[in-house]
Amino acid sequence: MDTVITIPALGDNFIYLVRYGSNDAFVVDPGDASSVFRTLKKHGWTLTTILLTHHHWDHVGGASELKRKTGCKIIAGYEGHSSDVDKVVEDGRILSMGEAQIKVITTPGHTRSSVCYYMQPSNTVPKGMLWTGDTLFIGGCGRLFECDPQTMWDSLLKLASLPDDTLVYCGHDYTVENYEFALSIEPDNDAVKKRLDEIRRTVGQEGLSVPSSISQEKMTNVFLRADSSELRAALGMKDAPAGEIFAELRRRKDHF
Ligand SMILES: [Fe+2]
Repeated sequence: MDTVITIPALGDNFIYLVRYGSNDAFVVDPGDASSVFRTLKKHGWTLTTILLTHHHWDHVGGASELKRKTGCKIIAGYEGHSSDVDKVVEDGRILSMGEAQIKVITTPGHTRSSVCYYMQPSNTVPKGMLWTGDTLFIGGCGRLFECDPQTMWDSLLKLASLPDDTLVYCGHDYTVENYEFALSIEPDNDAVKKRLDEIRRTVGQEGLSVPSSISQEKMTNVFLRADSSELRAALGMKDAPAGEIFAELRRRKDHF
C-alpha cells in the first residue's frame, strides 16, 4: 500500500511525499527542500524522483537541492530555466514507480506547460490519486497566467472525466476562500455550505483539506460546475456556453 504524506510549506503550499515499493519515495512540487529532507529521514525513505506540475518557484524551489543531495531525477512538463529537469513528459506518458503506474495529463491553463499526475488504481492502489498542482484546487482552480479561459476549462474537463473516487491532492490550501467565493455566486447551494462547515471544523482541529475526490469536486467546485443550468441562471447567462461561464467565474474570482 502506498503512503502519501502531505507536508504543508511556505504558508499555503502542499508538498506530497509518496512512498512506493519497500522504502522508495517520490515527491510532488517540493517548493522547500528542508521539510522534505526531515520527512524522508523520519521515515527512512529514499527519494528517487521529483515530479513537478509547473515551473513556479513555490513548487520547484527545493528541487535542485534535493537532486544534488540525493541524486534523484526531476520530471516535468517543461524544459525549465536550468538543466535540472531530467525528463520532459508529454500527455499520456506512463511513469512506473515500483508497481504503481502514474499517467501524465497535460493541463494547460495556469501555465502553458502545466501537467497533473494520475496514479492509476491497481492491486496496491485501491483508489486512483491525482496531483493537480495549481490547475484544480479543492473548491477552486488556478489563475490564468499564460492561457485563455477555454484552454483551462478544457483541462478541467479532462480531470473531471477521471473516476469519481479518485483522490485529489492540490498545490495550495485555498479551500475556505474558494467555498466562500462559491457561496457569493450561489448563496443557497447546500452542498457547498455543508462542505464549508466541514472544512472549517477540520482545519480548526489542525486537519488538512486534502485529499478531496473527483466526485466531491464535481458537486461542490464552482468552476467544475460551469456547465450546470443552476450556475448559468445564477450568473444571468442562460444561453452562454460553458467556456464563457467559466471565464466569467474566473474573472469574478480574480477580484473576490
Ligand atoms: Fe503556480
